Amino acid sequence: MVLIKIHEELPSTNVYALEQLRASDVEEFTVFRAINQTLGKGQKGNFWESERGKNLTFSVVLRPVFLPISRQYMLSKVVCLSLFEVLSRRVSGVKIKWPNDIYVGEKKICGVLIENQIRGTCLSGSVVGIGMNVNQELFFSDAPNPVSLYQLLLRESNLDELLLEVLNCLERYYEVLRVGERVEDIDVDFLERLFQLGEWCDYRDEGGLFVGKIVGVNEIGQLVIKEQQSGELRVYHFKEVSYILN
Ligand code: BTN
Repeated sequence: MVLIKIHEELPSTNVYALEQLRASDVEEFTVFRAINQTLGKGQKGNFWESERGKNLTFSVVLRPVFLPISRQYMLSKVVCLSLFEVLSRRVSGVKIKWPNDIYVGEKKICGVLIENQIRGTCLSGSVVGIGMNVNQELFFSDAPNPVSLYQLLLRESNLDELLLEVLNCLERYYEVLRVGERVEDIDVDFLERLFQLGEWCDYRDEGGLFVGKIVGVNEIGQLVIKEQQSGELRVYHFKEVSYILN
């Protein structure tokens, strides 16, 4: 069962949810949503911009105790698939950009920041932070290429409806993961929806710029790119490779 706790203002729903997770017996699928998030955390220590009341900024507490650390990327997959599904009901051209962004065309509509607690070899708690650009018309921070549903549809969307749809999808996918049946479908669906899969594109790694083609994501969630010149397969952890977009 989902429990949604709405806060008028929080610095960061992820920080708040992590505090709750540490301090109390907060139930799985408790959701902390901020109408105004003032210090939103993005990946790589970036700031997540969100105008008061215009977007979805929320964090879902999960307890994926069944998931070994080595398979923690499965959580990103189910979160991204849920977001993909809900956004695809509204706009075309939605893709999942590894490791856990949602893009429409070459623009980012949704960011995900998952922070895990670990006990032994498994995850004990997880805070899934989601920022979805919904009704914001203009973006001011230096975040590269943001886009909102409003900019794509030229009309406002209902935030409560969107949130419930995302949580519904997430519950469904998470159950597949928990039960452990037909988990391969998650891998197949994820790959099918992956941004730039099978396309020759520009990337940059520690060796510099190169042309490559994404061929997959391995068991532990690393991105596998075939380098064009040498034909070699290169495997990357998050932050070890960047996409060069227009
Ligand atoms: C990214 O950089 O793409 C990840 C952005 C994640 C933003 C969300 S908004 C709700 C939750 N609370 C935070 O402080 N960050 C996440």
